[in-house]
Amino acid sequence: MVNLEEIKNELQGLDVIGKLKLLAEKYAGEIIFSTSFGWEDQAITHLIFANNIPIKVFTLETGRLFPETYYVWNRTLEIYNKPIHAYYPNNELLQDMVNTKGPNSFYESVENRKECCYIRKIEPLKRALTGNKIWITGIRAEQSPNREDMHDLEWDEGNQLVKFHPIFDWTLADVKNYIKANNIVYNTLHDKGFPSIGCAPCTRAVAPGEDFRAGRWWWEEQSKKECGLHATEVKSVGS
Ligand code: ADX
Ligand code: SF4
Repeated sequence: MVNLEEIKNELQGLDVIGKLKLLAEKYAGEIIFSTSFGWEDQAITHLIFANNIPIKVFTLETGRLFPETYYVWNRTLEIYNKPIHAYYPNNELLQDMVNTKGPNSFYESVENRKECCYIRKIEPLKRALTGNKIWITGIRAEQSPNREDMHDLEWDEGNQLVKFHPIFDWTLADVKNYIKANNIVYNTLHDKGFPSIGCAPCTRAVAPGEDFRAGRWWWEEQSKKECGLHATEVKSVGS
């Protein structure tokens, strides 16, 4: 079992690269980073790949991503020449859902939407996380009121591992500056009013000043808007 307090103490005082390196060494082969190719994730991918930190990078290929996202994915492979592992939905589950309810069932009810997120993201995520002790994400405190209450290190009860959000305290300006300073490839949708980018049918641009996540599942009530990837954002300890 991973000791959260112990990790917290070990990470104290280190910079972001130092933290990633220490965790990669301590949890060799048991540490994994999930990327959706948004700019937060591109910054972390750069930190990992450019510094040759041995952390496995993976993505949940829902089959419904934007063309721009596939472009960034492909360019990232070309630029760093390092693997990004794709996890796909279970074929039978996906086929049954689409054959029963059609390709766009998620617009019809919250239940249908959660079913689609389960099949396209949550079940593949469980497979990706199996055998790992540390899960790294690009979550930032600024992204939503819920996330403000989190910390950069937390115990994920559902998945029985520690989540680490290395750029948790970065502002959007910090992310943009880092991307620019390091000439990192990023999703051009970010320049077109998309602060948060998920699946194409479920993400739209937001108006200036609108909440970061307002464009995600925009047809649903605020309280229902989560896909379950980070459903256990509860018990946390700051590093
Ligand atoms: S979500 O819960 O609303 O979908 P969000 O888009 O804010 O999450 O992304 C937060 C973090 O979740 C990302 O930094 C990334 O680590 C992970 N993530 C989200 N979508 C994916 C995906 N399709 N594949 C891999 N990781 C993802
Ligand atoms: Fe399905 Fe939309 Fe969830 Fe993507 S975000 S998995 S398309 S419901």
